[in-house]
Amino acid sequence: MQIGKYLSLALLGVSAVVAQTQNQTQNDNNSTIYDLLSAPNNNLNASRFIGLVNSDTGYQPIINLLKNPGNLTCFVPSDGVLNKVLTVWKAYAKQHKINVTGDYPPANMSYNNYTVSDLITYHIVGDRVNLTNLTDHNISVSVVHSVLNNSKVDHLGTGLPILIGNNASYAEFHNQTWMQANGSYLEYEVGNGHDDTDVDIKDVNATNGLINIISSVLIPPMSPTTVIKEVDDLDGFEELLKKYPIIGSTLNSTTNFTLFAPASDALKKANLTGMNNDTIQDLVRSHLVEGVYYTPNITANALTNDGNTNFTTFSNITFPAYVNSTSGYITLNKTARIVDSNIFFNNGVMHVVDSIISNDTEHDHDD
Ligand SMILES: *[C@@H]1O[C@H](CO)[C@@H](O)[C@H](O)[C@H]1NC(C)=O
Ligand SMILES: *[C@@H]1O[C@H](CO)[C@@H](O)[C@H](O)[C@H]1NC(C)=O
Ligand SMILES: *[C@@H]1O[C@H](CO)[C@@H](O)[C@H](O)[C@H]1NC(C)=O
Ligand SMILES: *[C@@H]1O[C@H](CO)[C@@H](O)[C@H](O)[C@H]1NC(C)=O
Ligand SMILES: *[C@@H]1O[C@H](CO)[C@@H](O)[C@H](O)[C@H]1NC(C)=O
Ligand SMILES: *[C@@H]1O[C@H](CO)[C@@H](O)[C@H](O)[C@H]1NC(C)=O
Ligand SMILES: *[C@@H]1O[C@H](CO)[C@@H](O)[C@H](O)[C@H]1NC(C)=O
Ligand SMILES: *[C@@H]1O[C@H](CO)[C@@H](O)[C@H](O)[C@H]1NC(C)=O
Ligand SMILES: *[C@@H]1O[C@H](CO)[C@@H](O)[C@H](O)[C@H]1NC(C)=O
Ligand SMILES: *[C@@H]1O[C@H](CO)[C@@H](O)[C@H](O)[C@H]1NC(C)=O
Ligand SMILES: *[C@@H]1O[C@H](CO)[C@@H](O)[C@H](O)[C@H]1NC(C)=O
Ligand SMILES: *[C@@H]1O[C@H](CO)[C@@H](O)[C@H](O)[C@H]1NC(C)=O
Repeated sequence: MQIGKYLSLALLGVSAVVAQTQNQTQNDNNSTIYDLLSAPNNNLNASRFIGLVNSDTGYQPIINLLKNPGNLTCFVPSDGVLNKVLTVWKAYAKQHKINVTGDYPPANMSYNNYTVSDLITYHIVGDRVNLTNLTDHNISVSVVHSVLNNSKVDHLGTGLPILIGNNASYAEFHNQTWMQANGSYLEYEVGNGHDDTDVDIKDVNATNGLINIISSVLIPPMSPTTVIKEVDDLDGFEELLKKYPIIGSTLNSTTNFTLFAPASDALKKANLTGMNNDTIQDLVRSHLVEGVYYTPNITANALTNDGNTNFTTFSNITFPAYVNSTSGYITLNKTARIVDSNIFFNNGVMHVVDSIISNDTEHDHDD
């Protein structure tokens, strides 16, 4: 069975913007995540989620996770968003004459190698991640890993990543005066790095982990070519992939890499007209580094060494990266600044840069 349209509608249509009301919910200190979410008249606003996981025995492994002892963090879509998704799903099922008995899609229905059960599993992190406490530790963005690690969809085998961020800039975050005044009003977002959703209620404590209520569904990281199409400012790179399909298939089939993808303006400036196939492939390889480097890793590495670290590309060239400790800006090879970061693939990560990374650079960025 296919839920392509349902999923893409969920993707495109249901990113509901809901005002954040980060109410802290009190509890009796002896309830599991499952207990809290299914308690009558609770104020978590997530009865549809509980309805979903109870609708089909295929969701039992998820219920077990939420009921058994453990240390988890769940991002639970609110009733508002699940109602919309389910409406889309029902219309889709009707149109495609799929036999639906209840309100909910079956656990084993699949789309692009993901079952619905996988999609839900992506919302669960195998660790206690207290969002408020991230603030206390001066971490402005954080990458955590979901318990979804089946090799069909997670080519890295680390558990598909989830990005947690908030609406403070790096500079604000590292300014104690600013944080004292504003820290408790920060709003949090989670997602795959290019499609992020608001956290409406955060850090609800249960015996086996924490619950956060979110205002859309989380979309797991997909293949590089799929993701690149969806990211703003990469039209030029997308054109390149169309013209040279070998680049896209190489990105799709490689694992464990970081791609520094030049933004459209950067490619325009570089004027690739007239370059041959080999030169272009080499250019792309010079933006590709082995290993998955999220910005918190790059920053942490660099700040132990006066802001400097090095990367070695697939074309075997080593270039420096510099992290400005005030602004947090990351500049590669003295010229290319990361302007959009931590966009996840199922096999690596991408950062968008505002200039190509070339070996013959003359002008430095002023930062
Ligand atoms: C948060 O608390 C306020 C005041 O108690 C209440 O009006 C509001 O409905 C609550 N919001 C949520 C999402 O529970
Ligand atoms: C907590 O709940 C468990 C399971 O329901 C029960 O066995 C235990 O006695 C409870 N502990 C406290 C301190 O209430
Ligand atoms: C949860 O984490 C705590 C602290 O690290 C640990 O003591 C406890 O055993 C863990 N619980 C489970 C069920 O893994
Ligand atoms: C639809 O599903 C129900 C329950 O699983 C089953 O009894 C019924 O025969 C199915 N109908 C069709 C047309 O497959
Ligand atoms: C599904 O998995 C197969 C085998 O790993 C792979 O060849 C195919 O490209 C995947 N499909 C999608 C849409 O990711
Ligand atoms: C906050 O996080 C730190 C490190 O991540 C951890 O050691 C500490 O126990 C956490 N504190 C609370 C209150 O969760
Ligand atoms: C989360 O961390 C904050 C700040 O350290 C702390 O006040 C709060 O009690 C923690 N919440 C949970 C559920 O651990
Ligand atoms: C830190 O934040 C305070 C309060 O917003 C502001 O007045 C001050 O200029 C900031 N300091 C720096 C170095 O940006
Ligand atoms: C959260 O719940 C755990 C397990 O019940 C408990 O040990 C911890 O003290 C609670 N934390 C807070 C901040 O209430
Ligand atoms: C990359 O993988 C995706 C998902 O399997 C597939 O849809 C796409 O056609 C692939 N692109 C290339 C250029 O191989
Ligand atoms: C780009 O390069 C091509 C071939 O080298 C050249 O003909 C063209 O004028 C250049 N375009 C710009 C805008 O520099
Ligand atoms: C990914 O690449 C990094 C850097 O080369 C390496 O340290 C790491 O072991 C690799 N991980 C896997 C799973 O291959």
